[in-house]
Parts: sequence; C-alpha cells; structure tokens
Amino acid sequence: MFKEISTDQAFMLIEPGNLVLLTTRDNAKNNLMPISWIMPMDFCAKFALVTGRWNYSCIALEKTRQCVLAIPPSSIIKKAVSAGNISGDEVEDKFKECGFTPLQAGDVCAPLVAECIANIECKVIEHIKRHDIFILSGIRAWINPKLRKAKRIHAVGNGTFIEDGKTINLKNFMIKRPNVKDI
Ligand SMILES: Cc1cc2nc3c(=O)[nH]c(=O)nc-3n(C[C@H](O)[C@H](O)[C@H](O)COP(=O)(O)O)c2cc1C
Repeated sequence: MFKEISTDQAFMLIEPGNLVLLTTRDNAKNNLMPISWIMPMDFCAKFALVTGRWNYSCIALEKTRQCVLAIPPSSIIKKAVSAGNISGDEVEDKFKECGFTPLQAGDVCAPLVAECIANIECKVIEHIKRHDIFILSGIRAWINPKLRKAKRIHAVGNGTFIEDGKTINLKNFMIKRPNVKDI
C-alpha cells in the first residue's frame, strides 16, 4: 500500500510552515534571509528556528540576540527566495540587493520589512548551540491591514512552494482550543 521513500526526503513532509524572512542588524548592517525551519512552541509568541553558522544571519542573531520574523505574501515569492541565494557576507546591503525596504522596529535593532504582511519583533531567550536552534520570544507584532488577507507561502522542499488555498473553518469543532481573537 505504501511505497518506501528515503528518510532524506522525510523533512519535506513536515516542513510546510510559513516561509518567513528573518531580519537582523549587526554592526549597523541590516540583513535578511528566508527560513522555513521555524515553529510556534505554544499558544503564545514563543518560536523555535533552526539555522547554521554558515549563514551570516546566524552569527548576527547569536551576537545581537534580536531579530524580526517577517511574513512575505506570495506575490513577492521570487524576491523572498532571492534573499536565500546570497549571503550578507557577500553584499553590502541585502535589503537593497533583493529589493526590500527596511523600517525601524519598535523595540529591537533588527528592521521590519515594509513589503511583508506582518512583522514580529523577537528576542532570543535560548540558543541551543549543538543544533543552532534559537528559541525566540515575540515582544511586539505588526500587521499591514491592506495585506491581512494576502496569501502566504509554504516551502515544501526541493525548490517548490505552495501558496495558501481554501480555508477550512473548524472553530466550533475544536472544543479544546483556546479562544484567540482572529488577526
Ligand atoms: C525557501 C528557503 C528556505 C530556507 N530555510 C532556511 C532555514 O530554515 N534555515 C537556514 O539556516 N537556512 C535556510 N535557508 C537558506 C538561507 O536563506 C541562505 O543560506 C541564505 O543565503 C543565508 O543568508 P545570510 O548568509 O545572509 O544569513 C533557506 C533558503 C530558502 C531559499
């Protein structure tokens, strides 16, 4: 009934969370990179992300312990992915290079991304160095009301993506969920 696949492919079955742009600011230099290995850890603004020391953003995040998680709409998917093709090490200003506009955040040094649906300002509360897992606490969150309904992007591995499709509303069926107000 089932056909065995390689466990090397298994992460793609679990992966499809939102594609997120992680912004940092180190030594007065703004940077951003797309990440898909990210998850909420509770019914609150606590997130875990996995990165690696080959990324400029990882070092900046470790040093400054501050970042922004920005949610791009699917209309700018190529721009978002292009930020994953180059490193902040190689360019003066990746925002400019990839056509993004940085905005001053409220409480963190990392910039918000003007083109995104929403931005979450975060502080690192734990760094699990063995795996470069960063645990983040969201301290401020912003949404662009004009993009509230924009379709988001989900990375499903190997250079392929899915954009939001049909919404299935099971609010009245999920009796154990906390009563959170819609965005
Ligand atoms: C769709 C997509 C998803 C990615 N997800 C991650 C991720 O979750 N973690 C990670 O460390 N790198 C991820 N990357 C790779 C980084 O974005 C890439 O290495 C980037 O160039 C790093 O930039 P930096 O050196 O300026 O930090 C992803 C790239 C793409 C295109």
